[in-house]
Amino acid sequence: MAHLFEPLRLRGVELPHRILVSPMCQYSCTDGLANDWHFVHLGSRAVGRAAAVLTEANAVTPEGRISPDDLGIWSDAHIEPLRRVFSFIEQQGSVPGTQLAHAGRKGSTSAPFKGGKPITVAEGGWSPILAPSPLPFNDGYQAPHEMTRQEIAAVVQAFADAARRADAAGAKIVEIHAAHGYLLHEFLSPLSNQRTDEYGGSFDNRIRIVLETVDAVRRAWPEKHLIFLRISASDWTPGGWTPQDSLGLAEKLKGRGVDLFDCSSGGNVASAKIPVGPGYQVVFAQRLRQELGVRTGAVGMITDPAQADQIIRSGQADVVFLARQFLRDPYWPLTAARALGQEIQWPKQYDRAKP
Ligand SMILES: Cc1cc2nc3c(=O)[nH]c(=O)nc-3n(C[C@H](O)[C@H](O)[C@H](O)COP(=O)(O)O)c2cc1C
Repeated sequence: MAHLFEPLRLRGVELPHRILVSPMCQYSCTDGLANDWHFVHLGSRAVGRAAAVLTEANAVTPEGRISPDDLGIWSDAHIEPLRRVFSFIEQQGSVPGTQLAHAGRKGSTSAPFKGGKPITVAEGGWSPILAPSPLPFNDGYQAPHEMTRQEIAAVVQAFADAARRADAAGAKIVEIHAAHGYLLHEFLSPLSNQRTDEYGGSFDNRIRIVLETVDAVRRAWPEKHLIFLRISASDWTPGGWTPQDSLGLAEKLKGRGVDLFDCSSGGNVASAKIPVGPGYQVVFAQRLRQELGVRTGAVGMITDPAQADQIIRSGQADVVFLARQFLRDPYWPLTAARALGQEIQWPKQYDRAKP
């Protein structure tokens, strides 16, 4: 029976255990370039012995950023600063990864600590923002530009180019962000996609851009390295994307190059009522894993070592992604190992503090 501290080998990558750092926007870049903040912030979690450290959403195009301060990977100039971060993560025995993202109609906003509101071009934002249909996310947001087929093809290519750069920077995992109401999720959900061409309408049409993106990234990305797909398994809104749809999507992607489905939820409907509580999204990872036999990751209010261990032992997921708990305690894997009585190698520099 697998447990939280059991290694997991996928393709040519060995995760030393099952605790991964979930992507977390830091809103701390200029021109999308990683800097000392990313080196220390992500590096600390690697020192804390996370099995893998994923960067925040890494924008595949400039207009694919959520805010002007986002991390980006739309040019070769972005490779070198990321390489420094990934190289350190790997030296710590952790697997470096990055989340490739396009914000779609949720782009051009200010960082949460600068107000977290839509911003105009004069305020440092941009226009147009892109989406499958010209439906604003919420009050105060720009009405997005309905993407042409050429623009869709260009975004798919931008994900593939970004994967090539992530590889050049030394990442071993790319996670394609198709969750939280950002561009790819906007295509999946009938609430944000009202197109009448081959990218809208039927289920097969709405998932088309995600399949194309996965295929394009797989072609650009080494065979031995991993592709994760983050989905919002439910819109938590009548008429929206459902857990059943998520099963349908994963079924189509099974054997098509996605190594693990990272099961989050929500983000596409500002008014959605979400029953947030400990482990509230674990059931989505469990369903995909048990009904389809695919690898899954659970995320969302996983904070307690016994809870995390239970998710792995009971076969609900293959890995857990922690976000806020890793902000509270960058060394959480060391904390969890201690609580569960499991052996884990501490950084040699910290050996004398080992209990
Ligand atoms: C500061 C912060 C930034 C986040 N940025 C991202 C992001 O870039 N991409 C993403 O998919 N999720 C992002 N999330 C969501 C987390 O990855 C995670 O799914 C969510 O916080 C639930 O996990 P938790 O309860 O362990 O925090 C962010 C969350 C936080 C707290």
